[in-house]
Amino acid sequence: MDEAAPEGPRCPLDGEVLESQGQFQEGLFRSVAENKNTYWTRLARIPTMQTLFEEKLNMQAEQFETSISNSFPKSGMTRDEIEQELKQLRSQDADPRSTFPDRWLNDRGLLLDDGTFEVAKAAHLAFFTKGNNYPTVVKFERDLIQMALSLFHAGKDATGAVTSGGSESLFLATAAALANAKERRPHIARSEIIIPQTGYPTFEKYERYLGYTIRRVPVDANFRADVSAMSEAVSENTVMMLASMPSWSHGVCDPVRELAEIASKHGIWLHVDACVGGFLAPFVRELGRDVPEFDFRVPGVSSISADFHKYGYSGKGVSGVFYRNKVARHQPFIFDTWAAGLYRSPVLTGTRNGGAIASAWAVMRYLGRDGYLSRAGQILKLRDAILSFVERCPGLKIVGGAELNVVGIGSDYSDVYSIASKMKDYGWKINLLKEPGAIQLVLGPLRDEYISLLVHDLEKAVEAVQCEDFRAPSPAVVYSDELTD
Ligand SMILES: Cc1ncc(COP(=O)(O)O)c(C=O)c1O
Repeated sequence: MDEAAPEGPRCPLDGEVLESQGQFQEGLFRSVAENKNTYWTRLARIPTMQTLFEEKLNMQAEQFETSISNSFPKSGMTRDEIEQELKQLRSQDADPRSTFPDRWLNDRGLLLDDGTFEVAKAAHLAFFTKGNNYPTVVKFERDLIQMALSLFHAGKDATGAVTSGGSESLFLATAAALANAKERRPHIARSEIIIPQTGYPTFEKYERYLGYTIRRVPVDANFRADVSAMSEAVSENTVMMLASMPSWSHGVCDPVRELAEIASKHGIWLHVDACVGGFLAPFVRELGRDVPEFDFRVPGVSSISADFHKYGYSGKGVSGVFYRNKVARHQPFIFDTWAAGLYRSPVLTGTRNGGAIASAWAVMRYLGRDGYLSRAGQILKLRDAILSFVERCPGLKIVGGAELNVVGIGSDYSDVYSIASKMKDYGWKINLLKEPGAIQLVLGPLRDEYISLLVHDLEKAVEAVQCEDFRAPSPAVVYSDELTD
């Protein structure tokens, strides 16, 4: 048997074990210097990437330092001490006005005061010690699947699963599409998946695990999936196509019906990534806004992912993947020759927190159609307020769709990243977009006074940039599920 690998940070690229985080950092830059043609070297030469590298490494170094000084506690603290510590740490988190981390369910009075937070919290606490193998939690999951299937107008053969997040839902939909193709089109040696340029990057992540090839297809001038380009990209190895509802980057809803026609014609699985809009778009449509159809009423839609922990307003860690029919039989994993008995697992993860699932169930029943409509109305109010601000502000323009809940703001004349930096000074965290350079807001049902405050602060920030020549240093444009600032 091989000797156990020694613990400790490893030098990037050559894997040598190092003694300290400082050596790790040195090692990284040494590797970068010595391996001039590697991907990392090329990335490190781009100035913004370099800043990002440094920031990230410093952050990792800090975490490393903390973990050394915070070795396993010798003796416990009192309840009072730990509660104080938690309170203090919580108060260091983002300012109440922050739109980024707390935009769907918020404990700081930022959002519509409709009781959702209290309901989610009570349900979460009531089940936080339970896992997904607890009978009531199983019931919650079944109910959540049925509620979502009815919202998405699924037929009687439809099925689904509750997962830990959008990424897991996308993984399972992709795995089901690949398995389905393997059965029906076994001659395909390496499957291909076609994704509009704006699709969520998790598909590249799963390329590693599942072994397929991705074709990213350029979008049209409005950042919408280009139907003829998608059609041209289909090859004899294509097994799956993606439509976003909407895309995270540009807030654009892809033309699901047209893409579904192409998918049906070629016998390809069409997945609709409605992680962001699944529990919002139906209500926005009901309020009379023009949002494309995306659910199972559209023939050719094979599966849909929708996150309860976004616009379903549950605690974090709950999403759903839904299938038109029983082809999802590929999904539950069963192993029947194990000493502990039959192993059956419906999704990718094992134990999941019953509290989060209970909160999704409770909020959905608490809000009902009326509550979701009212929250959707408030989101549209915020969206409309931002759009009318941009319209009356020379030099600014809307970037992307702004059809539902994602609004991009760009400019031909102003430094938009400096606007984001000013907004940060006022306590708002605003996302950045790289292509094209823009700021991006993912909206939640803000209370009226915060809608006014946001627009007021935007006005001030734009004035500082346009009239007072405020300039912030060029930022690194980062979207990461571990680094949110
Ligand atoms: C369009 C889209 N799909 C999927 C996901 C993944 O969701 P999660 O972060 O819950 O894994 C996101 C996350 O923001 C997203 O924007």
